[in-house]
This record gives sequence, C-alpha cells and structure tokens, in this order.
Amino acid sequence: MKKFKRHLVTSALPYANGPVHIGHLAGVYIPSDIYTRYLRLKGEDVISVCGSDEHGVPITIKARKEGVTPQDVVDKYHGMIKEAFQSFGISFDIYSRTTSKTHSETASNFFKKLYDQGEFIEQTTMQYYDEEAKAFLADRYITGTCPHCQNDRAYGDQCENCGTTLNATDLINPKSTITGSDPVRKETKHWFLPLDKHEPMLRKWILEQHKEWKPNVYGQCKSWLDLGLQPRAVSRDLDWGIPVPVEGAEGKVLYVWFDAPIGYISATKELTPDWEKYWKQDDTKLVCFIGKDNIVFHCIVFPAMLEAHGDYILPENVPANEFLNLEGDKISTSRNWAVWLHEYLEEFPGKEDVLRYVLCANAPETKDNDFTWKDFQARNNNELVAILGNFVNRALVLTDKYYEGVVPELGELTDYDKDTLKELPAIKLSLESNVEHYRFREALKDAMAIARLGNKYLADTEPWKVIKTDPERVKTTLNIALQLTANLATAIEPFLPFTSAKLLKMLSIEKPEWESLGSSSLISAGHKIGKAELLFEKIEDSVVEQQMAKLERSKLENAENEALQNIASQKENVTFDDFGKMDIRVSTIVAAEKVAKTKKLLKLTVDTGIDTRDIVSGIAEHYKPEELVGKQVLVLVNLAPRTLKGIESNGMILMGSDASGKLVLLSPQDQVNSGAIVG
Ligand code: 2FM
Ligand code: ZN
Repeated sequence: MKKFKRHLVTSALPYANGPVHIGHLAGVYIPSDIYTRYLRLKGEDVISVCGSDEHGVPITIKARKEGVTPQDVVDKYHGMIKEAFQSFGISFDIYSRTTSKTHSETASNFFKKLYDQGEFIEQTTMQYYDEEAKAFLADRYITGTCPHCQNDRAYGDQCENCGTTLNATDLINPKSTITGSDPVRKETKHWFLPLDKHEPMLRKWILEQHKEWKPNVYGQCKSWLDLGLQPRAVSRDLDWGIPVPVEGAEGKVLYVWFDAPIGYISATKELTPDWEKYWKQDDTKLVCFIGKDNIVFHCIVFPAMLEAHGDYILPENVPANEFLNLEGDKISTSRNWAVWLHEYLEEFPGKEDVLRYVLCANAPETKDNDFTWKDFQARNNNELVAILGNFVNRALVLTDKYYEGVVPELGELTDYDKDTLKELPAIKLSLESNVEHYRFREALKDAMAIARLGNKYLADTEPWKVIKTDPERVKTTLNIALQLTANLATAIEPFLPFTSAKLLKMLSIEKPEWESLGSSSLISAGHKIGKAELLFEKIEDSVVEQQMAKLERSKLENAENEALQNIASQKENVTFDDFGKMDIRVSTIVAAEKVAKTKKLLKLTVDTGIDTRDIVSGIAEHYKPEELVGKQVLVLVNLAPRTLKGIESNGMILMGSDASGKLVLLSPQDQVNSGAIVG
C-alpha cells in the first residue's frame, strides 16, 4: 500500500445560484467533513478546501430573471452558502469562490499553459445565435419541442419531461428565451480538450489501478471509457466567466466545468503558501468528495486536464455518493421541494447535529435514499435521545448523585467489566476501517456502539440498586461508565462535533487524541466533572407534521404554477382544416342530475338542435344540477362517444379553467336557437 505524508480533501464547489439543502449536505459535505475531522483528530497533515462555483449559464439566467447582475446573484448566495456550512460545523480550512482574483489568474494560466503546449484542438462549429440580443445562445437559453415526447417546453440541453439529453439543434421550432425570436445558426470557434488522447492513461489509471473505487464510480467511469472518449469544448460564447486568454477569443470565456475544478487549486493557493506541496508531490493523498452527477468531470475530464498540464497529482479516490430524495420525490430547487439549510437552522436552532446524524445514518452511499420527516423524528427520539443521550445522562447524573461529580476509584474488575472494556479497541478498529473506506454510515454505527454498550452495561450492572448493598462496587461501575462516555466523546467528534464538544465540557476534559480511543483510563479517579446537560430532546409529532404540511404547500404551489404555465403558453398551430373538423354547437341543457357514486360527474341532457342526447361532464364540484337547467352552452357534438360509469356520453360541454382548477361554462352572449354553429 502506498504511504502518504499528507492529505488534501476537496468537496464539490456548490453553484452559487441558490441556497444549499439537505441533499448537498448528505451527498458531499457531511462525508467530506467526517473524513477531514477524523484525519485531524489522528494528527494527520490534512487540509480541506471548498468554495462557491460562481460561473456558468444558470447564474446568468437567474440574474436576467431577477433584473440584477450575475455578480449580485453570486454575492448573495456565496454568503448564504458559506454561512450555512459554517453553522453546520462543516470545517473547511478555506471556503473560497471562483470569482476571486487568485482563481481567475490560476484558471487563466492553466488554460494558457495547455494552449501553449498545444494540448487543445481549435474547431469551428455551428451554434444558435440570437440576432436581436446579438449573442450566441447557450443550450439552456433555447427552448423548443422535444423530438421524443413533443413537450413544447424542452431546453436545448435536456427535455425535463422525458429526461432525454438533447442538442439544441435537435429541438423542433427552437426559440431564444432571451428575446423569443427564432435563432439562426452561425459559425463560432472553440477550444476542445481531446479526451481521446488521454484515454489510454485514464483506462490504466482507473480500470487497472483503482479497482477499489466505489462500484457506482468505477462503473460509471468504465461505461464512459468503453463508449470511447471524444474531444470536449472547454470554452463558451458567454459574457460571464473567465475570459479565454488567447488572441481572437473576444466574447469567449472558459467553460464553467473547466474553471470550477481548478478552483480547488486556487483555494489551496489562497489558504497556504505551501500549496504546491499539496498539489504537486505524489505523497499527497488527494480525495475528491462529490455527488454522482459530477463523476465524469472529476474522474475523466479533470484528470485529463491535470495530465495535460503535467505538474499536478491525480485524485487517489473520488467517493461519490448517489442522490438523496425527499419524501419519495427528487429534491428540486425550482419546485421548492427541498429542506433548505438556512430554514432548518431557523426552525431547529441548536439541532445541527441531529440533521448531521440523520443525514449520515441515511446517507445515499450505495444507492439513492429517501429523507422523511418521520425517519428524522424516529432517529432523533429512538437513537439520539434514547441511546446516546440516555447513556451519557445516566452516567453523569449517577456520578453527581453518589460522588458529587468526582470520578470514583476503579476497584477490582469482574469478567463482565473486562469484557465490556475489551469491546472498545475492536470498535476503534472497525470505525477506522469504515472511515478510511468511505463507509460513513457504518462508521457512525460503530461510534454509536459505544453508547449502546454503555446503556447495556448500566442496565446489567444496575448501580442504582447495588448502591444499597455494595457501594464499593458502584465506584468501579461508574468509573467504567465514565470511561465509556469519554471514549464516546472522541468517537462521535467527526460525526457530531457540537455534541462531542458539549460532552467534553460536561466531563471537563480536553479533546483527547484519536489514538487514546479504546483506552480504559481517559478520565482519572478524583477528577471533578461538570454538570449534566441535556444533549438531545424528543421531537414531538406536531413538529414533523408542520414540516410535512410545509412540503404539502410546496406541492400545491407547484401544481398551480404548472397550470399557470400551461395557460401562459400557446399550443402548436393547427390548420384551418384541422379546426373545421370540429362541430361545435350552441345547445340548451334540458335536464341535469348527479351520477351516482361519483363526486365530480353530472349527467346532462342537452338539446343540440340536431338531437337530444346525454353528456357526462366533470363539473359537479362547480355547479349544482338545478342551476344548469335552461342554460345555453357550447358543445363539441362530434366528439367520439365514450362510456363513463355505464352512461354513454355523446359530446363535450366546453368550459374555461383557470390555474386554481376552477371551471366555468361558456355561453353565448345573447340567446340563439339550439344548434347554432360555432366557428
Ligand atoms: O454540480 C455542481 O454543483 C458543480 N458546481 C460542482 C463543481 S465541482 C468542481 F469541479 F468544482
Ligand atoms: Zn421529451
């Protein structure tokens, strides 16, 4: 096994176009923080770098929508994100940003070096151009009809209805979202990194030398490599980003995925003058924490960039997580289907560790996982309160009660005492192996095993009973319980740093070194401990019900917004002949009754001027049958008959519907004969 002298931990730079949510924490930042804190406790030379990813098209779209500059957008979210991470105890050594001067110089020089070394291919391609806005259009700035599912609001890079990845040129009837005009195709020159040239290195490096990577990561890389790599454009026509630093590149910037990973290097430079040691010496272990959507960029594109550059080391591991869903649905910023960290901090003050715990215990390490408020409550009440909090509380309260908070002497050990203490070194070994193999859920279970062990020990030894018959024995029991508590404070530090700090304060001891974990003599007899405080409190049903109601409201708002959008956008054009096929007549309702066993349906008998017929209509929640008789309405009379609840329905009553789902009948302004033709 390779020996490393130092560690460099990177965490995916979040886009500064919105606040961060639980999916971010669970996928990337909690795992990277656990890993870093663990290495720090072990006394390793480690730095952890991160920052905001502040370039890219979505930021320009947001700015345009809000009528502000892209810089305003990133300033706002950079601040929010940084604060949220800090509040949750995510202990980066630096949280920088890609609009920093150092970054722009670093990324620019990186590009220039590759350019000078002839690492790029220059290619002229056809791109959509908006003649009114005088700008080339990024794929996200073009909408049109998806050729696969006919969704008329597909984007140039993806159809969100059917999920297909698209090229802007695939769209039917493309429109610029900036001006609404029809874009034209125009030539433009870009720089491409020939990934194919780096393929042999990547194949060897990943497929042969890194078989230990997580199966989800290894598998994705293998599929990419097996498909064969193609040159990839690393510049864009855009007015927001780092200018391409070569002649003839006016109006062009570095592609956001080219500059963002270089952000790890710039952040390290900003952190320490020793930055080269971390990036250029191969006894540094570089580990990149990311979400699964970033795998190709970190395992294929960034390493190819690093190899082309020539001075830098490659990642040793890229332990990407899968996605976290929320109450069964994909987390979505645009649909406000998320638990936002800044809102959680306001609504659950002092409960940062509870979320850290739940997100780690349920982390999407090997498959997508679901966050539910019920699970959040159950894990808090049944694990943090009932196991961890309960053990610590009993150990401290009993010591306070029997010995006025002074750690009692350790007497003679029974076999059971010895067996209990013997478990600690085994737990330590398992925890270490799990963290070092990026299995943080299992590692958390190991840390919690100390609390379980302590609870069992107290339940079995019953000091509250034994105190009456054998007080000497209780001294040993509580000494052991306190040793377990001190071990627990160390073991949980990477996972629950706030709780660990509180516990150390309660025990009045300094943060022990990792190596002392497993020891039965972390606290000496005669040491005075502090007061027991409550570490966790029960979360009531009403609290999680409120959160679920909040999500329900998001769902309703989404449905309304969707309906509004449907109303706002016009369907595809039809010909006059198409319209002429519809036979619409003014008709008079002559009878109306509810359809039995349904909430929404009415059976209406209408005089169409051609005949009298029955039509089943879904308006029972909007009109009472008696209100309808005698009303003139518009009816599509040649709609093919359908049978609903056993009644043959011949035609359709035309209605208007608004975003809230309200239905209104359409009637002629003046009375006309039934059968009058509409058109
Ligand atoms: O997916 C994202 O949120 C990207 N902003 C991650 C960038 S990671 C890196 F390369 F900086
Ligand atoms: Zn589609």
